[in-house]
Amino acid sequence: MQFSRPRGTRDFLPEEMARRRYVEKVMRETFESYGYREIQTPVFESLELIAAKSGEDIVKHLYSFKDKSGRSLALRPELTLPVMRLYINELQRKPKPIKLYYFENCFRYEEPQAGRYREFWQAGIELIGTSYPEGEAEVIAIAVEVLEKLGLKDFELHIGSIGILRKILRESGVKEKEQGKILHLIDKGEREKLENLLKKLKISGENKRILLGILNLSGEKKEVVSKARELLKGRAALEEIEKFESILRFLDLKVQKYSLNLGIARGLDYYSGTVFEIYANRLGAQKQICGGGAYSLAGMLGGEETPTCGFAFGFDRVMLALEAEKEMNIDSKTHVLVVPVSESLLGDAVKISSIIRKSASCELDLMRRKLGRALAYANSEGIPFVVIVGDEELAKGCVTLRDMKTGEQKEIKLSELERIGEKL
Ligand code: HAM
Repeated sequence: MQFSRPRGTRDFLPEEMARRRYVEKVMRETFESYGYREIQTPVFESLELIAAKSGEDIVKHLYSFKDKSGRSLALRPELTLPVMRLYINELQRKPKPIKLYYFENCFRYEEPQAGRYREFWQAGIELIGTSYPEGEAEVIAIAVEVLEKLGLKDFELHIGSIGILRKILRESGVKEKEQGKILHLIDKGEREKLENLLKKLKISGENKRILLGILNLSGEKKEVVSKARELLKGRAALEEIEKFESILRFLDLKVQKYSLNLGIARGLDYYSGTVFEIYANRLGAQKQICGGGAYSLAGMLGGEETPTCGFAFGFDRVMLALEAEKEMNIDSKTHVLVVPVSESLLGDAVKISSIIRKSASCELDLMRRKLGRALAYANSEGIPFVVIVGDEELAKGCVTLRDMKTGEQKEIKLSELERIGEKL
């Protein structure tokens, strides 16, 4: 009997893993170059934590279960809530800002399709403890820098402000819980349901006109900001525009191309300020490769209120976007294959392989192939060099090095093997 993978999960073969590890490395190095340090949290958390502030859409798609002691748990659907729990448990007293990053798998019971999986990976950062605009601008710029370093060309950064939307709603007398419902409908683009809910909440006239007016604003910075200012004249939400603009002023120092879209509402309940999404248009329906923004969680998770912002790449979607644009040939192959010409030399070949591994990746032929077949194997696997261990050469303190590309062979001294990687 054969078994297949659970729906919505994937296996990754070596070539794909090599590409994934390369992209992961670029992400990690970029995060670390800004002072972010990696953390890890459990794959499952208490259901209560995850359900607390994730939002309707995420809760609907949770993998949740009871353990043998009857505890309600859930596989993490994202990392921001777990990271904030960790921060409150372990790091609250540390000097600010606290800069954390993660690279982890997440689980959402969604309908699988291209770019949408039930197990997927997120690479993200969280900046905790500063509310200065240069901090938020830096977070957005890091996401763009990663994509530029990876050589992705066809992507768009869209920036919005849930802070403005929430202020308008608050001024219209809408409670926090209802705000979540409204933002959810905005995020889903459900205009009719939104109109109905606004009616039910008695948001009409001027308040409704302003909200819908703001939602429709998108495009170039100057135009969007001036129209938003006009709409919000004399209202408390104007203050949010000022915050928003100061973030953009810092962002302009690092990122040249972006659009504003004040209709972005994000799919999670905890956002409270500037938010952003990055789209790779070639991916069609699942084009959102990154999402993030400023959020409020510390207080409601039992900690001291503190400003926080961050983002997460949908790592799998970044991979799809890169692969749609270019061929990614990442070399993770063995450099050297060691082949003894007879079984009596196997012991020497084992020792020689260990020496070579000090400077190059090296496989000992474990199939006891004859030399001709071993060379054919190296060829088929793209292993560029073969070290042939023969009696005569060994007696002289040498082995034969064959360059598989040119077919050239030369003897090299055993004493040189330790640093052979530098010459290949
Ligand atoms: P999110 O937008 O829900 O935000 O997820 C971030 C990214 O994960 C999405 O932009 C998308 O690329 C990817 N993603 C989501 N669901 C799937 C799926 N089923 N299959 C493949 N990829 C998926 C968050 O999770 C926030 N925690 C981001 C954040 C961090 N905000 C502040 N800090």
